[in-house]
Amino acid sequence: MTTPISAQPAHDDRASAAAASPVVLSPAGPADHWWQSAVIYEVYPRSFADGDGDGVGDLAGLIHRLPYIASLGVDGIWMTPFQPSPQVDQGYDVSDYCGVDPLFGSMADFERLLAGAHALGLRVLLDVVPNHCSSRHPLFQAALAAGPGSPERGLFHFVEGRSSSPEHPSDLPPNNWQSVFGGTAWSRANPGSETDTEWYLHLFSAGQPDWNWRNPAVGDYFDGVLRFWFDKGVDGLRIDVAHALFKADGLPDAPSESPVVDGLRSNPLVSDQEEVHEVYRRWRRLAEKYQPHRLLVGEVNLEPSRAARYTRADEMHQAFAFAFVKLGWDAAAWAQAGSELEEARLLHGAAPTWALENHDIVRTVTRFGGGDQGARRARAALAALLGLPGAAYIYQGQELGLPEVDVPVEARVDPMWARGGVTRDGSRVPLPWTEDPAGNHGFSTGPTATPPWLPLPDGWGDNAIESQQQDPGSALAFAARALALRRQLWADGTFTADDAGTWRLRAGNLLTCERSPRFLVAVAMGSEPVELPPGVVLFSAFPLEQEGWLQPDNAVWLRRS
Ligand code: NOJ
Repeated sequence: MTTPISAQPAHDDRASAAAASPVVLSPAGPADHWWQSAVIYEVYPRSFADGDGDGVGDLAGLIHRLPYIASLGVDGIWMTPFQPSPQVDQGYDVSDYCGVDPLFGSMADFERLLAGAHALGLRVLLDVVPNHCSSRHPLFQAALAAGPGSPERGLFHFVEGRSSSPEHPSDLPPNNWQSVFGGTAWSRANPGSETDTEWYLHLFSAGQPDWNWRNPAVGDYFDGVLRFWFDKGVDGLRIDVAHALFKADGLPDAPSESPVVDGLRSNPLVSDQEEVHEVYRRWRRLAEKYQPHRLLVGEVNLEPSRAARYTRADEMHQAFAFAFVKLGWDAAAWAQAGSELEEARLLHGAAPTWALENHDIVRTVTRFGGGDQGARRARAALAALLGLPGAAYIYQGQELGLPEVDVPVEARVDPMWARGGVTRDGSRVPLPWTEDPAGNHGFSTGPTATPPWLPLPDGWGDNAIESQQQDPGSALAFAARALALRRQLWADGTFTADDAGTWRLRAGNLLTCERSPRFLVAVAMGSEPVELPPGVVLFSAFPLEQEGWLQPDNAVWLRRS
């Protein structure tokens, strides 16, 4: 169905008004394309740095702290959404795709940020959320107002419900789909109305209606969104729930045997429909109209063989290696996930894009056992990650070895908590900048620091950036060393974009990934020291206690002899 509705984002006029920020990046790295060797630092703006003292991180705070990010030795940042939003899902409910929420600052702040990052040699990737918008988005509001059968409603999935009896028309959701956040994926458009008995689809919260990508006007609209940010000079986009834009035609019931866990994965009808690939072909063409080409990285939460199809040569450049993202400390699981990813790479060509943490998952320190052991393992895992073939993303605070925080129940704000009883707040607690508790441990630099949007736990200051910067044995100092050596190994040709990833689980739970006959990453994931294959240790997460042997929870980069 087509619709006469304007396909332009509400603020398209601003695109031409805004001066594109000059790109002053260093020349391309040793890989053919800068992103092939890149390490990108994920910034969750709410929790990074608060420049106006209101307890919520913002663009001013981020601008102020850009030198810190540059000092890590990463290639760029990915910023989660800061566009206008009712903040039902902490910004993943966008009500204006081409603006800046006053909570975070202004468009002028964003332009300063972009220019400041570029001047420091950092690329800037933004989040685009094409699966759903906010229920406050003007086009959704117009659809609600226009009523059943209107072209405005054709931009979303408005459908009559089922009826429990002739006396109660449309009193049941149109199908059995579940929201990822828990409960039905449908809400009544106009609760209580007898004339408007339609429901609308939301794979996430009721405040996040899904766009209907079968309507071509939606594709046109998003072209405008992409152009807006590309024209402004952003270097690329991370695509939220990239595999879910198209739903099975006719919105049939999911097979009843589908378990209701992790909603999208268990319901084949809401994700990985063939039609979605055309969107990324179109976006790739658009991204390549710009110089330098803009980067597309997808959140494609599918098994490796399916996810790899999104990074075919004419689609996205990267997709996070989801098989890896949620791993525990389990050598067999790592070897299996790694091998599947390698198989997928051989089939479709793109190297995996590694990540072990993001703002949706439990931090590695805690996931790998917590306490000192969890901290050691998290550091070893980060060492491994940075030695693997392909690009890597690290999440703010991962470089500090931050654990997951048990946020008090009354302070939890994640919509997943209310609907599904799981909270992601624990990985989103604001960063501790100083040991001194003043200004929310340096998180808030404004005149009056109100309490942060999520409370800081006792002892948070023990992880402070300021102290870690002074300590050569800190998680931060380790991460910076790993990043510096990685950069050097790319520069001297030890690491190349053609490297493979041959994974092996060896005796004693020694996990290895051989990226070339000359280079191997090894992680000791068992409980006893294990003998290393012959070679020269170039880097280790912790000093080796005995030459040629690796202690449990340590990782090395080995040049084969
Ligand atoms: C993935 C994002 O990372 C997550 O935070 C969000 O809740 C969902 N997509 C919905 O946008």
